[in-house]
Amino acid sequence: MNEVIKNMLERRSIRKFKPEQISRKDLDIILEAGLYAPCAGGRQGVIIVACQNRAINAELGKINHSFFHGRMSTAAAYISKEQPSIADDPKITDGLYGAPTVITLFGARNFLYATPDCSVAAENIMLAAHSLGIGSCMIMRTEDTFDSDFGKRLQKTWGIDESYQAKAFVILGYSATEPPKTKPRKENRVKVVE
Ligand SMILES: Cc1cc2nc3c(=O)[nH]c(=O)nc-3n(C[C@H](O)[C@H](O)[C@H](O)COP(=O)(O)O)c2cc1C
Repeated sequence: MNEVIKNMLERRSIRKFKPEQISRKDLDIILEAGLYAPCAGGRQGVIIVACQNRAINAELGKINHSFFHGRMSTAAAYISKEQPSIADDPKITDGLYGAPTVITLFGARNFLYATPDCSVAAENIMLAAHSLGIGSCMIMRTEDTFDSDFGKRLQKTWGIDESYQAKAFVILGYSATEPPKTKPRKENRVKVVE
C-alpha cells in the first residue's frame, strides 16, 4: 500500500495527550498542509490560528464543553474505549482534551462554502500531523465557543475580523497511549455504478 493511503487508513482521533509540546518545525509543516487544502472557488479564504497558550486552550476547552448537550454513549454505542470522548466519559470537563496545541479554523460568515473549506483544511492538517507521528482530533461547537464573551475577545485579540466565524477546531499533540484501534467499517456504504 502506498504511504499516503496507509496514512489515511491509520489516522485515529487522539484525545489523551502527553504534556510535551510539538516542535515549531512540525507545526509549520502541518499548517502549510492546511493552506494547501482545496478551497471553493480557489478563494483561499480560510484563516488558521494555532494556539499553544495553555491557559487560553484550557478556557476554550471549558467553554467548548459547556455547549455539549449531545447524547452520552452507552456500553454498546461508544465513541472510543481507549481514548474516551466527552460523550463517553462525563468526568472529562475539557472539550479540547488538554491538547498542547489547539488549531481554530475561521471562514468568512457570508461565504456559503466556508464550513466545507474549513473541514477539508482540517483533514489536511490531521493527515499531515499523523504522518509526523502527531495525534489529532477534529472538535466542533466552535461557533458557540467563539460566540462567548471570552471567544469574542480572543478573536479580536488575534486580529481576526468579526466577519469571520470560527468553524472547526483541530487539536494536536503526542498521544499519551497507543493509538486507539480502528473500528471495522460499516458495510454497504459504497456503491460503484456503471
Ligand atoms: C465533523 C467532525 C466533528 C467531530 N467532533 C468531535 C468532537 O466535538 N469531539 C470529539 O471528541 N471528537 C469529535 N470528532 C472525532 C470523531 O469522534 C471521530 O472522527 C470518530 O469517532 C471516528 O474515529 P477516528 O477519527 O479515530 O477514525 C469529530 C469528527 C468530525 C469529522
